[in-house]
Amino acid sequence: MNNKTMGRSGFSSSFGVLAATLGSAVGLGNIWKFPSLTGANGGAGFLLIYLLATLMIGLPVMIAEITMGRAAKANPITTLQRLAPKKSLPWWLIGASGMLAAFLILSFYSEVVAWVFAYVFKAIGGSILSSDRQVTEAAFGALISDPLQSLLWQWGVLILIGGILLMGVTKGIEGITKKLMPVLFLLLLVLCAVSLTLPKVAEGIAFLFKPDFNKITAGVVLTAMGLAFFKLSLGMGTMMTYGSYFRDDQNIPATTMRVMLADLFVSMLAGIAIFPAVFSFGFEPSAGPSLVFITIPAVFSQIPGGHLLMIAFFALAAVAATGAMLSMMEVPVVILHERFGLSRTRATVLTIAMLIVLGSSCALTNNVLADFKLFGMNMFDLFDFASSNVLLPLGGISLALFVGWVWGRDNFQRALSNQGALRNATVTGVVFFLLRYVSPLLILVVMLKGLGLF
Ligand code: PHE
Repeated sequence: MNNKTMGRSGFSSSFGVLAATLGSAVGLGNIWKFPSLTGANGGAGFLLIYLLATLMIGLPVMIAEITMGRAAKANPITTLQRLAPKKSLPWWLIGASGMLAAFLILSFYSEVVAWVFAYVFKAIGGSILSSDRQVTEAAFGALISDPLQSLLWQWGVLILIGGILLMGVTKGIEGITKKLMPVLFLLLLVLCAVSLTLPKVAEGIAFLFKPDFNKITAGVVLTAMGLAFFKLSLGMGTMMTYGSYFRDDQNIPATTMRVMLADLFVSMLAGIAIFPAVFSFGFEPSAGPSLVFITIPAVFSQIPGGHLLMIAFFALAAVAATGAMLSMMEVPVVILHERFGLSRTRATVLTIAMLIVLGSSCALTNNVLADFKLFGMNMFDLFDFASSNVLLPLGGISLALFVGWVWGRDNFQRALSNQGALRNATVTGVVFFLLRYVSPLLILVVMLKGLGLF
Protein backbone atom coordinates (compact mmCIF):
# COMPACT_ATOMS: atom_id res chain seq x y z
CA MET A 1 0.00 0.00 0.00
CA ASN A 2 1.52 3.36 -0.89
CA ASN A 3 1.00 6.72 0.77
CA LYS A 4 -1.77 7.74 -1.50
CA THR A 5 -3.95 4.83 -0.54
CA MET A 6 -3.13 4.90 3.16
CA GLY A 7 -5.83 6.34 5.33
CA ARG A 8 -8.38 5.82 2.58
CA SER A 9 -11.51 4.47 4.16
CA GLY A 10 -13.35 1.40 2.98
CA PHE A 11 -15.90 -1.19 3.94
CA SER A 12 -15.03 -2.69 7.30
CA SER A 13 -16.69 -6.10 7.21
CA SER A 14 -17.72 -8.77 4.78
CA PHE A 15 -21.36 -8.17 5.57
CA GLY A 16 -20.79 -4.47 4.96
CA VAL A 17 -19.33 -5.20 1.53
CA LEU A 18 -22.33 -7.33 0.66
CA ALA A 19 -24.88 -4.84 2.00
CA ALA A 20 -23.38 -1.89 0.15
CA THR A 21 -22.89 -3.73 -3.14
CA LEU A 22 -26.29 -5.34 -3.04
CA GLY A 23 -27.69 -1.98 -1.98
CA SER A 24 -26.35 -0.54 -5.22
CA ALA A 25 -27.76 -3.29 -7.41
CA VAL A 26 -31.19 -3.38 -5.80
CA GLY A 27 -33.09 -0.28 -6.79
CA LEU A 28 -36.16 0.96 -8.54
CA GLY A 29 -35.09 -1.34 -11.37
CA ASN A 30 -36.11 -4.35 -9.26
CA ILE A 31 -39.45 -2.95 -8.32
CA TRP A 32 -40.91 -1.97 -11.60
CA LYS A 33 -38.52 -2.69 -14.43
CA PHE A 34 -37.72 -6.32 -13.78
CA PRO A 35 -41.19 -7.70 -12.89
CA SER A 36 -43.05 -5.89 -15.65
CA LEU A 37 -40.45 -6.58 -18.32
CA THR A 38 -40.41 -10.25 -17.35
CA GLY A 39 -44.18 -10.50 -17.41
CA ALA A 40 -44.56 -8.66 -20.69
CA ASN A 41 -41.77 -10.48 -22.52
CA GLY A 42 -42.56 -14.12 -22.01
CA GLY A 43 -42.04 -14.93 -18.32
CA ALA A 44 -39.64 -17.79 -17.73
CA GLY A 45 -38.24 -17.49 -21.26
CA PHE A 46 -37.23 -13.90 -20.60
CA LEU A 47 -35.85 -14.91 -17.24
CA LEU A 48 -33.66 -17.50 -18.88
CA ILE A 49 -32.25 -14.98 -21.32
CA TYR A 50 -31.76 -12.46 -18.56
CA LEU A 51 -29.79 -15.08 -16.65
CA LEU A 52 -27.64 -15.88 -19.67
CA ALA A 53 -26.96 -12.18 -20.22
CA THR A 54 -26.08 -11.81 -16.57
CA LEU A 55 -23.70 -14.74 -16.70
CA MET A 56 -22.02 -13.78 -19.96
CA ILE A 57 -21.92 -10.01 -19.62
CA GLY A 58 -23.07 -8.90 -16.19
CA LEU A 59 -20.93 -11.05 -13.93
CA PRO A 60 -17.68 -10.72 -15.91
CA VAL A 61 -17.99 -6.95 -16.19
CA MET A 62 -18.93 -6.66 -12.52
CA ILE A 63 -15.96 -8.79 -11.51
CA ALA A 64 -13.72 -6.71 -13.79
CA GLU A 65 -14.89 -3.42 -12.28
CA ILE A 66 -14.55 -4.56 -8.68
CA THR A 67 -11.17 -6.18 -9.26
CA MET A 68 -9.77 -3.09 -10.97
CA GLY A 69 -11.08 -0.78 -8.26
CA ARG A 70 -9.61 -2.92 -5.52
CA ALA A 71 -6.29 -3.30 -7.29
CA ALA A 72 -5.84 0.45 -7.70
CA LYS A 73 -7.69 1.53 -4.53
CA ALA A 74 -8.79 4.71 -6.18
CA ASN A 75 -11.62 6.53 -7.91
CA PRO A 76 -12.47 5.37 -11.46
CA ILE A 77 -10.36 7.97 -13.30
CA THR A 78 -7.25 7.36 -11.17
CA THR A 79 -7.83 3.61 -11.24
CA LEU A 80 -7.51 3.53 -15.01
CA GLN A 81 -4.54 5.86 -14.94
CA ARG A 82 -2.79 3.57 -12.46
CA LEU A 83 -3.58 0.31 -14.22
CA ALA A 84 -2.98 1.39 -17.82
CA PRO A 85 0.59 1.31 -19.15
CA LYS A 86 2.21 4.73 -19.45
CA LYS A 87 1.97 5.15 -23.19
CA SER A 88 -1.42 3.83 -24.19
CA LEU A 89 -4.85 5.07 -25.11
CA PRO A 90 -6.53 7.56 -22.73
CA TRP A 91 -8.30 4.77 -20.84
CA TRP A 92 -9.10 7.18 -17.99
CA LEU A 93 -11.87 8.48 -20.21
CA ILE A 94 -13.86 5.42 -19.04
CA GLY A 95 -13.85 7.00 -15.57
CA ALA A 96 -14.81 10.40 -16.96
CA SER A 97 -17.65 8.95 -18.98
CA GLY A 98 -18.79 7.12 -15.84
CA MET A 99 -18.99 10.40 -14.00
CA LEU A 100 -21.05 11.90 -16.81
CA ALA A 101 -23.32 8.85 -16.83
CA ALA A 102 -23.74 9.18 -13.06
CA PHE A 103 -24.88 12.78 -13.42
CA LEU A 104 -27.31 11.95 -16.21
CA ILE A 105 -28.82 8.91 -14.47
CA LEU A 106 -29.04 10.71 -11.14
CA SER A 107 -30.86 13.60 -12.78
CA PHE A 108 -33.88 11.53 -13.72
CA TYR A 109 -33.55 8.73 -11.16
CA SER A 110 -33.61 11.28 -8.33
CA GLU A 111 -36.93 12.60 -9.63
CA VAL A 112 -38.52 9.15 -9.53
CA VAL A 113 -37.06 8.66 -6.06
CA ALA A 114 -38.56 12.05 -5.19
CA TRP A 115 -42.01 10.71 -6.09
CA VAL A 116 -41.34 7.60 -4.02
CA PHE A 117 -40.47 9.66 -0.95
CA ALA A 118 -43.47 11.93 -1.50
CA TYR A 119 -45.62 8.79 -1.70
CA VAL A 120 -44.30 7.44 1.59
CA PHE A 121 -45.81 10.50 3.21
CA LYS A 122 -48.94 10.43 1.10
CA ALA A 123 -49.38 6.79 2.05
CA ILE A 124 -49.03 7.62 5.73
CA GLY A 125 -51.52 10.49 5.36
CA GLY A 126 -53.88 8.14 3.53
CA SER A 127 -54.76 10.64 0.79
CA ILE A 128 -53.91 8.26 -2.05
CA LEU A 129 -55.90 5.37 -0.62
CA SER A 130 -58.65 4.89 -3.17
CA SER A 131 -59.86 1.90 -5.11
CA ASP A 132 -60.76 4.17 -8.01
CA ARG A 133 -57.91 4.28 -10.48
CA GLN A 134 -59.05 7.69 -11.68
CA VAL A 135 -58.56 9.10 -8.21
CA THR A 136 -55.06 7.66 -7.85
CA GLU A 137 -54.22 8.81 -11.36
CA ALA A 138 -55.32 12.34 -10.56
CA ALA A 139 -53.27 12.31 -7.34
CA PHE A 140 -50.13 11.31 -9.23
CA GLY A 141 -50.85 13.87 -11.94
CA ALA A 142 -51.22 16.59 -9.33
CA LEU A 143 -47.78 15.76 -7.89
CA ILE A 144 -45.80 15.62 -11.10
CA SER A 145 -47.46 18.62 -12.70
CA ASP A 146 -46.62 20.84 -9.74
CA PRO A 147 -43.16 22.31 -10.42
CA LEU A 148 -42.54 23.44 -6.87
CA GLN A 149 -43.38 20.09 -5.28
CA SER A 150 -41.37 18.23 -7.93
CA LEU A 151 -38.31 20.39 -7.34
CA LEU A 152 -38.49 20.42 -3.57
CA TRP A 153 -38.89 16.66 -3.20
CA GLN A 154 -36.00 16.10 -5.59
CA TRP A 155 -33.75 18.54 -3.78
CA GLY A 156 -34.74 16.95 -0.48
CA VAL A 157 -33.73 13.53 -1.78
CA LEU A 158 -30.40 14.81 -3.13
CA ILE A 159 -29.61 16.51 0.18
CA LEU A 160 -30.57 13.40 2.15
CA ILE A 161 -28.33 11.12 0.08
CA GLY A 162 -25.55 13.72 0.10
CA GLY A 163 -25.90 13.89 3.89
CA ILE A 164 -25.33 10.14 4.19
CA LEU A 165 -22.29 10.37 1.90
CA LEU A 166 -20.89 13.12 4.13
CA MET A 167 -20.81 10.59 6.95
CA GLY A 168 -18.16 8.80 4.92
CA VAL A 169 -17.78 5.42 3.28
CA THR A 170 -17.70 3.29 6.42
CA LYS A 171 -20.22 5.08 8.62
CA GLY A 172 -22.34 6.49 5.83
CA ILE A 173 -22.61 4.05 2.93
CA GLU A 174 -21.76 0.85 4.79
CA GLY A 175 -23.47 1.83 8.05
CA ILE A 176 -26.73 2.82 6.40
CA THR A 177 -26.96 -0.02 3.86
CA LYS A 178 -26.23 -2.55 6.61
CA LYS A 179 -29.31 -1.29 8.42
CA LEU A 180 -31.47 -0.87 5.33
CA MET A 181 -30.92 -4.22 3.59
CA PRO A 182 -32.50 -6.36 6.34
CA VAL A 183 -35.43 -3.91 6.45
CA LEU A 184 -35.79 -4.30 2.70
CA PHE A 185 -36.00 -8.08 2.92
CA LEU A 186 -38.41 -7.93 5.83
CA LEU A 187 -40.80 -5.55 4.05
CA LEU A 188 -40.59 -7.59 0.89
CA LEU A 189 -41.38 -10.85 2.67
CA VAL A 190 -44.37 -9.32 4.45
CA LEU A 191 -45.74 -7.98 1.17
CA CYS A 192 -45.19 -11.34 -0.54
CA ALA A 193 -46.89 -13.23 2.26
CA VAL A 194 -49.98 -11.04 1.97
CA SER A 195 -49.98 -11.20 -1.81
CA LEU A 196 -49.91 -15.00 -1.73
CA THR A 197 -53.17 -15.07 0.26
CA LEU A 198 -55.10 -13.20 -2.45
CA PRO A 199 -57.60 -14.93 -4.75
CA LYS A 200 -55.69 -14.68 -8.05
CA VAL A 201 -52.28 -15.83 -6.91
CA ALA A 202 -52.00 -18.36 -9.70
CA GLU A 203 -52.74 -15.80 -12.39
CA GLY A 204 -50.18 -13.38 -11.01
CA ILE A 205 -47.49 -16.02 -10.73
CA ALA A 206 -48.31 -17.36 -14.18
CA PHE A 207 -47.97 -13.86 -15.66
CA LEU A 208 -44.51 -13.68 -14.18
CA PHE A 209 -43.16 -17.15 -14.81
CA LYS A 210 -45.14 -18.97 -17.48
CA PRO A 211 -42.74 -19.56 -20.33
CA ASP A 212 -43.93 -18.16 -23.62
CA PHE A 213 -41.10 -18.64 -26.06
CA ASN A 214 -43.10 -17.10 -28.88
CA LYS A 215 -42.53 -13.73 -27.33
CA ILE A 216 -38.76 -14.06 -27.50
CA THR A 217 -37.60 -11.91 -30.39
CA ALA A 218 -34.23 -10.35 -31.08
CA GLY A 219 -35.50 -7.17 -29.47
CA VAL A 220 -36.47 -9.02 -26.29
CA VAL A 221 -33.04 -10.62 -26.07
CA LEU A 222 -31.49 -7.20 -26.26
CA THR A 223 -33.87 -5.78 -23.66
CA ALA A 224 -32.82 -8.55 -21.30
CA MET A 225 -29.16 -7.75 -21.81
CA GLY A 226 -29.71 -4.04 -21.26
CA LEU A 227 -31.62 -4.80 -18.09
CA ALA A 228 -28.80 -6.99 -16.78
CA PHE A 229 -26.49 -4.04 -17.20
CA PHE A 230 -28.62 -1.47 -15.45
CA LYS A 231 -29.70 -3.87 -12.72
CA LEU A 232 -26.16 -4.67 -11.66
CA SER A 233 -25.07 -1.00 -11.77
CA LEU A 234 -22.46 -1.61 -14.45
CA GLY A 235 -20.56 0.47 -16.95
CA MET A 236 -20.31 3.73 -15.05
CA GLY A 237 -17.66 3.09 -12.42
CA THR A 238 -20.08 2.43 -9.56
CA MET A 239 -18.82 -1.07 -8.97
CA MET A 240 -15.25 0.06 -9.56
CA THR A 241 -15.66 2.67 -6.85
CA TYR A 242 -17.17 0.17 -4.44
CA GLY A 243 -14.46 -2.31 -5.40
CA SER A 244 -11.90 0.22 -4.24
CA TYR A 245 -13.49 -0.04 -0.79
CA PHE A 246 -13.42 -3.86 -0.75
CA ARG A 247 -11.11 -5.55 1.71
CA ASP A 248 -8.05 -7.27 0.31
CA ASP A 249 -9.18 -10.65 1.60
CA GLN A 250 -12.67 -10.39 0.13
CA ASN A 251 -13.45 -13.19 -2.32
CA ILE A 252 -14.58 -11.16 -5.32
CA PRO A 253 -16.13 -13.89 -7.53
CA ALA A 254 -18.07 -15.31 -4.58
CA THR A 255 -19.31 -11.89 -3.48
CA THR A 256 -20.32 -10.97 -7.02
CA MET A 257 -22.24 -14.19 -7.42
CA ARG A 258 -24.05 -13.62 -4.13
CA VAL A 259 -24.97 -10.06 -5.08
CA MET A 260 -26.29 -11.18 -8.44
CA LEU A 261 -28.37 -14.00 -6.94
CA ALA A 262 -29.73 -11.85 -4.11
CA ASP A 263 -30.60 -9.12 -6.59
CA LEU A 264 -32.44 -11.63 -8.73
CA PHE A 265 -34.25 -12.96 -5.67
CA VAL A 266 -35.37 -9.44 -4.70
CA SER A 267 -36.61 -8.81 -8.24
CA MET A 268 -38.65 -12.03 -8.24
CA LEU A 269 -40.07 -11.38 -4.79
CA ALA A 270 -41.09 -7.91 -5.98
CA GLY A 271 -42.97 -9.54 -8.83
CA ILE A 272 -44.62 -12.00 -6.46
CA ALA A 273 -45.62 -9.15 -4.17
CA ILE A 274 -47.09 -7.09 -6.99
CA PHE A 275 -48.78 -9.23 -9.64
CA PRO A 276 -51.12 -11.49 -7.66
CA ALA A 277 -52.48 -8.32 -6.08
CA VAL A 278 -52.80 -6.51 -9.40
CA PHE A 279 -54.72 -9.40 -10.99
CA SER A 280 -56.88 -10.08 -7.95
CA PHE A 281 -58.44 -6.65 -8.23
CA GLY A 282 -58.86 -6.67 -11.97
CA PHE A 283 -56.12 -4.26 -12.98
CA GLU A 284 -53.85 -4.36 -16.00
CA PRO A 285 -50.21 -5.25 -15.29
CA SER A 286 -48.92 -1.93 -16.65
CA ALA A 287 -45.26 -0.96 -16.42
CA GLY A 288 -43.21 1.92 -15.08
CA PRO A 289 -44.54 4.87 -13.11
CA SER A 290 -48.19 4.04 -13.67
CA LEU A 291 -47.77 0.59 -12.09
CA VAL A 292 -46.08 1.92 -8.98
CA PHE A 293 -47.81 5.24 -8.44
CA ILE A 294 -51.28 4.67 -9.88
CA THR A 295 -52.13 0.96 -9.88
CA ILE A 296 -50.47 -0.05 -6.60
CA PRO A 297 -52.36 2.48 -4.43
CA ALA A 298 -55.63 1.41 -6.06
CA VAL A 299 -54.80 -2.25 -5.44
CA PHE A 300 -53.69 -1.89 -1.84
CA SER A 301 -56.73 0.15 -0.92
CA GLN A 302 -58.79 -3.01 -1.43
CA ILE A 303 -56.76 -5.36 0.74
CA PRO A 304 -57.51 -5.56 4.45
CA GLY A 305 -54.74 -3.64 6.22
CA GLY A 306 -53.98 -2.02 2.88
CA HIS A 307 -53.09 1.31 4.44
CA LEU A 308 -50.18 -0.20 6.34
CA LEU A 309 -49.18 -2.37 3.38
CA MET A 310 -49.04 0.64 1.13
CA ILE A 311 -46.79 2.44 3.58
CA ALA A 312 -44.64 -0.71 3.63
CA PHE A 313 -44.52 -0.81 -0.17
CA PHE A 314 -43.37 2.78 -0.63
CA ALA A 315 -40.96 2.46 2.29
CA LEU A 316 -39.53 -0.58 0.53
CA ALA A 317 -39.11 1.37 -2.71
CA ALA A 318 -37.51 4.25 -0.79
CA VAL A 319 -35.07 1.88 0.93
CA ALA A 320 -34.14 0.21 -2.35
CA ALA A 321 -33.67 3.54 -4.09
CA THR A 322 -31.50 4.90 -1.29
CA GLY A 323 -28.79 2.25 -1.69
CA ALA A 324 -28.76 2.68 -5.46
CA MET A 325 -28.59 6.49 -5.23
CA LEU A 326 -25.76 6.34 -2.69
CA SER A 327 -23.66 4.28 -5.06
CA MET A 328 -24.35 6.49 -8.05
CA MET A 329 -23.61 9.72 -6.21
CA GLU A 330 -20.42 8.32 -4.69
CA VAL A 331 -18.86 8.20 -8.18
CA PRO A 332 -18.68 11.97 -8.78
CA VAL A 333 -18.00 12.64 -5.10
CA VAL A 334 -14.94 10.42 -4.94
CA ILE A 335 -13.65 11.64 -8.31
CA LEU A 336 -13.98 15.30 -7.28
CA HIS A 337 -12.41 14.50 -3.93
CA GLU A 338 -9.46 12.39 -4.97
CA ARG A 339 -8.80 13.46 -8.53
CA PHE A 340 -9.56 17.15 -8.22
CA GLY A 341 -8.37 17.59 -4.65
CA LEU A 342 -11.60 18.92 -3.13
CA SER A 343 -12.35 17.98 0.46
CA ARG A 344 -15.00 15.25 0.70
CA THR A 345 -17.45 17.80 2.10
CA ARG A 346 -16.89 20.23 -0.75
CA ALA A 347 -17.02 17.43 -3.31
CA THR A 348 -20.38 16.32 -1.92
CA VAL A 349 -21.82 19.83 -1.78
CA LEU A 350 -20.65 20.54 -5.32
CA THR A 351 -22.18 17.27 -6.55
CA ILE A 352 -25.51 18.12 -4.92
CA ALA A 353 -25.40 21.64 -6.38
CA MET A 354 -24.68 20.36 -9.88
CA LEU A 355 -27.44 17.79 -9.59
CA ILE A 356 -29.90 20.40 -8.39
CA VAL A 357 -29.20 22.37 -11.56
CA LEU A 358 -29.06 19.46 -14.01
CA GLY A 359 -31.77 17.41 -12.28
CA SER A 360 -34.21 20.30 -12.30
CA SER A 361 -34.66 19.84 -16.00
CA CYS A 362 -36.04 16.37 -15.21
CA ALA A 363 -38.18 17.59 -12.31
CA LEU A 364 -39.72 20.15 -14.66
CA THR A 365 -40.23 17.72 -17.53
CA ASN A 366 -43.84 17.01 -16.57
CA ASN A 367 -44.79 20.62 -16.04
CA VAL A 368 -42.94 23.82 -17.01
CA LEU A 369 -40.68 22.14 -19.58
CA ALA A 370 -43.33 19.76 -20.91
CA ASP A 371 -42.92 21.08 -24.44
CA PHE A 372 -39.16 21.43 -24.40
CA LYS A 373 -37.49 18.80 -26.56
CA LEU A 374 -33.95 18.03 -27.66
CA PHE A 375 -33.42 15.38 -30.37
CA GLY A 376 -37.17 14.82 -30.16
CA MET A 377 -37.08 13.81 -26.49
CA ASN A 378 -37.86 15.59 -23.25
CA MET A 379 -34.98 15.96 -20.79
CA PHE A 380 -36.08 12.99 -18.67
CA ASP A 381 -36.13 10.61 -21.63
CA LEU A 382 -33.03 12.12 -23.21
CA PHE A 383 -30.92 11.59 -20.08
CA ASP A 384 -32.27 8.05 -19.73
CA PHE A 385 -31.55 7.30 -23.38
CA ALA A 386 -28.06 8.82 -23.46
CA SER A 387 -26.97 7.00 -20.33
CA SER A 388 -28.60 3.58 -20.76
CA ASN A 389 -28.18 3.26 -24.51
CA VAL A 390 -24.87 4.98 -25.04
CA LEU A 391 -22.70 5.63 -22.01
CA LEU A 392 -23.27 2.44 -19.97
CA PRO A 393 -22.73 0.03 -22.87
CA LEU A 394 -19.71 2.03 -24.07
CA GLY A 395 -18.32 1.89 -20.55
CA GLY A 396 -18.94 -1.86 -20.42
CA ILE A 397 -17.24 -2.57 -23.74
CA SER A 398 -14.26 -0.40 -22.87
CA LEU A 399 -13.86 -2.04 -19.47
CA ALA A 400 -14.01 -5.53 -20.92
CA LEU A 401 -11.52 -4.63 -23.65
CA PHE A 402 -9.24 -2.96 -21.14
CA VAL A 403 -9.03 -6.00 -18.90
CA GLY A 404 -8.97 -8.50 -21.76
CA TRP A 405 -6.39 -6.85 -23.95
CA VAL A 406 -4.48 -4.22 -21.94
CA TRP A 407 -4.35 -5.05 -18.24
CA GLY A 408 -3.98 -8.68 -19.18
CA ARG A 409 -4.44 -12.13 -17.77
CA ASP A 410 -1.58 -12.11 -15.27
CA ASN A 411 -2.53 -8.90 -13.52
CA PHE A 412 -6.17 -9.91 -13.53
CA GLN A 413 -5.41 -13.35 -12.17
CA ARG A 414 -3.19 -12.00 -9.41
CA ALA A 415 -5.76 -9.43 -8.30
CA LEU A 416 -8.70 -11.80 -8.50
CA SER A 417 -6.96 -14.56 -6.55
CA ASN A 418 -6.06 -12.14 -3.74
CA GLN A 419 -2.38 -12.41 -4.73
CA GLY A 420 -2.57 -16.19 -4.92
CA ALA A 421 -4.40 -16.77 -1.63
CA LEU A 422 -7.46 -18.10 -3.45
CA ARG A 423 -7.11 -21.09 -5.72
CA ASN A 424 -9.50 -19.92 -8.41
CA ALA A 425 -7.56 -20.20 -11.66
CA THR A 426 -10.46 -21.85 -13.50
CA VAL A 427 -12.90 -19.13 -12.53
CA THR A 428 -10.39 -16.48 -13.53
CA GLY A 429 -9.75 -18.22 -16.82
CA VAL A 430 -13.42 -18.37 -17.73
CA VAL A 431 -14.11 -14.78 -16.68
CA PHE A 432 -11.06 -13.57 -18.56
CA PHE A 433 -12.11 -15.38 -21.71
CA LEU A 434 -15.58 -13.85 -21.50
CA LEU A 435 -14.13 -10.37 -20.98
CA ARG A 436 -11.66 -10.71 -23.82
CA TYR A 437 -13.94 -12.14 -26.49
CA VAL A 438 -17.57 -12.58 -25.56
CA SER A 439 -18.78 -9.59 -23.52
CA PRO A 440 -17.47 -6.81 -25.79
CA LEU A 441 -19.11 -8.33 -28.85
CA LEU A 442 -22.41 -8.96 -27.11
CA ILE A 443 -22.50 -5.49 -25.62
CA LEU A 444 -21.75 -3.97 -29.00
CA VAL A 445 -24.84 -5.68 -30.36
CA VAL A 446 -26.95 -4.36 -27.48
CA MET A 447 -25.69 -0.88 -28.04
CA LEU A 448 -26.16 -0.78 -31.78
CA LYS A 449 -29.65 -2.11 -31.32
CA GLY A 450 -30.31 0.41 -28.54
CA LEU A 451 -29.29 3.19 -30.89
CA GLY A 452 -31.57 1.74 -33.53
CA LEU A 453 -28.68 1.17 -35.90
CA PHE A 454 -29.91 -2.20 -37.05
N1 PHE B 1 -29.05 -0.95 -10.15
C1 PHE B 1 -29.88 0.16 -9.84
C2 PHE B 1 -31.37 -0.23 -9.94
O1 PHE B 1 -31.71 -1.31 -10.19
C3 PHE B 1 -29.64 1.34 -10.70
C4 PHE B 1 -28.22 1.77 -10.84
C5 PHE B 1 -27.64 1.92 -12.10
C6 PHE B 1 -27.44 2.07 -9.71
C7 PHE B 1 -26.33 2.33 -12.25
C8 PHE B 1 -26.12 2.47 -9.85
C9 PHE B 1 -25.56 2.59 -11.12
O2 PHE B 1 -32.22 0.57 -9.74
